[in-house]
Amino acid sequence: MTIAIVVLISGRGSNLQSIIDAVGRGELPARIAAVISNEADALGLHRAQQAGIETRVLSHAGFADRNDYDLALRDLVSEFNPDLIVLAGFMRILGAQFVGRFEGRIMNIHPSLLPKYRGLNTHERALADGASNHGASVHFVTTNLDAGPIIVQSKVPIYADDSPEILAERVLQEEHRILPQAIRWFAEGRLSARDGRVLLDGETRPEQSLTSHRRHGIPN
Ligand code: GRF
Repeated sequence: MTIAIVVLISGRGSNLQSIIDAVGRGELPARIAAVISNEADALGLHRAQQAGIETRVLSHAGFADRNDYDLALRDLVSEFNPDLIVLAGFMRILGAQFVGRFEGRIMNIHPSLLPKYRGLNTHERALADGASNHGASVHFVTTNLDAGPIIVQSKVPIYADDSPEILAERVLQEEHRILPQAIRWFAEGRLSARDGRVLLDGETRPEQSLTSHRRHGIPN
């Protein structure tokens, strides 16, 4: 069986590209039904078009409040009947109108080891704290910002001479690995969220599903 995915983006779309590439390599039993951006000039829209994927732009600019935007986005996404919605650098907070419709079927990639550094500027904040490591998390989306149940995380070291840009690049490489991995688990029917917990192959995932690429690996 192949699942249908809708990917929401706002910009560059490198995480989107990692999904497109994984589908292209036959690693995901999934098809990307549509890519939707809230920004008309998002580079990710070009990536989608290059791959022959339908694109839509729904700018938040014309909407009086967040609730109205959420309703419009909900209707647009519903047109594509997705089994899964992936937020891949989608820079808007989604409220109950949207999340309630697709509960347990929305995942987000976030550039930190949640619950650390919810929100923006995660790399700057990790450096300012003098942290020795940082990373990325994929989690199911709830109405609490960056606080939904964690599916998988990956940790990277922070070095003394790191700039936010260099650190962001190191984290991004892990994002491009764990996001397609989480989508694959979902597409294979192995992953679900129940009562605020994540189940993989019928087992509850620990609250912090931290893996490190080289040392522990991630189940296939
Ligand atoms: C990524 O770091 C993602 O985790 C964050 O925004 C960035 C988007 O990058 N939410 P891209 O658009 O996927 O290249």
